[in-house]
Amino acid sequence: MNKNMVKINLRAHLSNHGVEEKLRRIIAHVADSAKYISLIMREANRKLAGTQNSFGEDQLELDVLADDILKQRLEYETSFGIGEFASEEQDTIKLLSTNGERYSVTVDPLDGSSLVDVNLAVGTFIGIHEGKILSGKPGRETLAAAMYVVYGPLTTLVYTARNGTHEFVLDPTGNFVLSQENLTLKDSGSIYSPGGLRSEWLPKHAAFIDYLEAEGYKLRYSGGLVPDANQIISKGGGIFTYPALTSARAGKLRLLFEEQPLALIVEGAGGLATNGVNDILDLVPEALEQRSPFYMGSRIEVQMARRYLTKD
Ligand code: AHG
Ligand code: MN
Ligand code: MN
Repeated sequence: MNKNMVKINLRAHLSNHGVEEKLRRIIAHVADSAKYISLIMREANRKLAGTQNSFGEDQLELDVLADDILKQRLEYETSFGIGEFASEEQDTIKLLSTNGERYSVTVDPLDGSSLVDVNLAVGTFIGIHEGKILSGKPGRETLAAAMYVVYGPLTTLVYTARNGTHEFVLDPTGNFVLSQENLTLKDSGSIYSPGGLRSEWLPKHAAFIDYLEAEGYKLRYSGGLVPDANQIISKGGGIFTYPALTSARAGKLRLLFEEQPLALIVEGAGGLATNGVNDILDLVPEALEQRSPFYMGSRIEVQMARRYLTKD
């Protein structure tokens, strides 16, 4: 058989890369949940659930369903245990097993859910931590693996277990098949994705965006972090920013659910993710609702952002 026709699925990839067995199983089960989420996405349900999450945001029925699919899968699986589970859609950390399990999991079940009604791509973020979720340690020390899934024309899954960053595509038989091994960001790119209202940007951030525009960077912003970040990673460079705002000094994006998992993935692809100054993975999560300004992408652009933000 032609070598190019041999398909490597996610489980085989995890195993070939020597990923620890429990971690491998968690990743494979999350991938399975993502497959079901991609199916319910096709049901044309765009209804509000009539409830709000812990961030005071209106939930879609799909937000709640995706959350249930992930939680139940991890809770009732008996071949491995999960210690703690935290979701952007729930107020508190749930203890799924009391057996002193090695790993805990954070999820943003449906990222970019405000894009569901307009039929743009949305996603899921997963972080897998050694030990507790709020351990008093920086994410760099506790995050064993991270993933995101993009529900677009294709369903794709990107993961790192600190073994590089790799992309898989959900094929028609329901398998995640390797599509790109070792995704790599170039030192710089040509697109920028600027979050937050321009009228609320602080002057140093605004000056940085002016610089990008003067340099001819092309605007690419959908309003969904998973697809926006995925575009930068897949195109091999550029920068996504969601800065401090005059009305929200910590910005909008959530450290545990969105930023640290994405930071592990981006660093695994040779890029950077910072709060403008410090690496996102060096921050210590102290609360589920913690937010931070966010700059992620190619090294040169993220370092340039730091230069603008620290200028006198
Ligand atoms: P979620 O749908 O999980 O609440 O996340 C939405 C986030 C993120 O996906 C995106 O980057 C950001 O909100 C967009 O914010 P703006 O609407 O302010 O651009
Ligand atoms: Mn989100
Ligand atoms: Mn969400």
